[in-house]
Amino acid sequence: MASSKAPSTMVIDYVPPPVTSLRVRQPAHKVSSEYIAKYNKATEIMRNLPPSDPRNFMQQANIHALYCDGPDGDKDGLGKYIQFVVHNSWLFFPFHRWYVYFYEKILGNLIGDPNFALPFWNWDHPDGMQIPDMYTDKLSALYDLNRSTVHQPPTTVDLDYHNGKAPKPRKDQVDDNYGVMYNNMVSGAKLPLLFFGSPYREGSKISPGSIEKHPHNCVHNWTGHEITPQTPCGEDMGVFKSAGRDPIFFAHHANVDRMWSIWKTLDGPKRKDITDTDFLDTSFVFYDEKARLVRVKIRDCLDTKVLGYVYEEVDLPWLKERG
Ligand code: C2O
Repeated sequence: MASSKAPSTMVIDYVPPPVTSLRVRQPAHKVSSEYIAKYNKATEIMRNLPPSDPRNFMQQANIHALYCDGPDGDKDGLGKYIQFVVHNSWLFFPFHRWYVYFYEKILGNLIGDPNFALPFWNWDHPDGMQIPDMYTDKLSALYDLNRSTVHQPPTTVDLDYHNGKAPKPRKDQVDDNYGVMYNNMVSGAKLPLLFFGSPYREGSKISPGSIEKHPHNCVHNWTGHEITPQTPCGEDMGVFKSAGRDPIFFAHHANVDRMWSIWKTLDGPKRKDITDTDFLDTSFVFYDEKARLVRVKIRDCLDTKVLGYVYEEVDLPWLKERG
């Protein structure tokens, strides 16, 4: 059992540790039962950490809520609320990359396995187009009660979902999903700002990048519970403030993150990371696996190998079918 840690308040500038071996993130529908047992165990320990430990499951979920909805009550010198939000702009990919990175490192640390890697929800491949089984076992720490009741397996995920949209027959849905992937990775994402989203600068209007809008937002809404008095905003996955309370969030975001890596390998001269220093020098603060408060910069997360992980390579049917 991991010893509990009190939060530190001193901020350390984070330098990714030297990489000795790469952690490999695998598709959630393909992992072994040993892997599932290990991931479940790590999540259980995380849930059972004292609530004051910044590595505790709810604390981790709250990090997301804080960065999404902005801090409650923080004011600048003139009494104006300071808003800093990580959606709907170019902050989206890097913020979530770092967030998932520390979550993964914490899980690995709690089970003493520095090679532990999260799974990715491979919703862009037909075999992964439903809620992966490991998340539906009611006795598992990976289970969450606040999920859609009509989108349980084997319902096919809808990468262009909006609330209330009815499920389609599998074949049509898979085909539609290929189209969504192709439009948002290839034809509609030829330039960095189309893919990443608009710059994030004081006074300028923000808009999301192609993948953030769909499939990212759609999978959130599709997974969250129907609107009821207990789940008025489609909790958990359907609304920022509670999305991190569903462990499936991290598999969803691993796949979103994987799209960033894949996008840079697609044909086209402009499929490159943004080089603007306003982007590269943006920093975020997290707790690392030792519960230290660390400051990270976007410029340090552009290459997953520097962060010590890669994605298992799997087929990209949407590219083959449409490309
Ligand atoms: Cu910060 Cu998928 O949301």
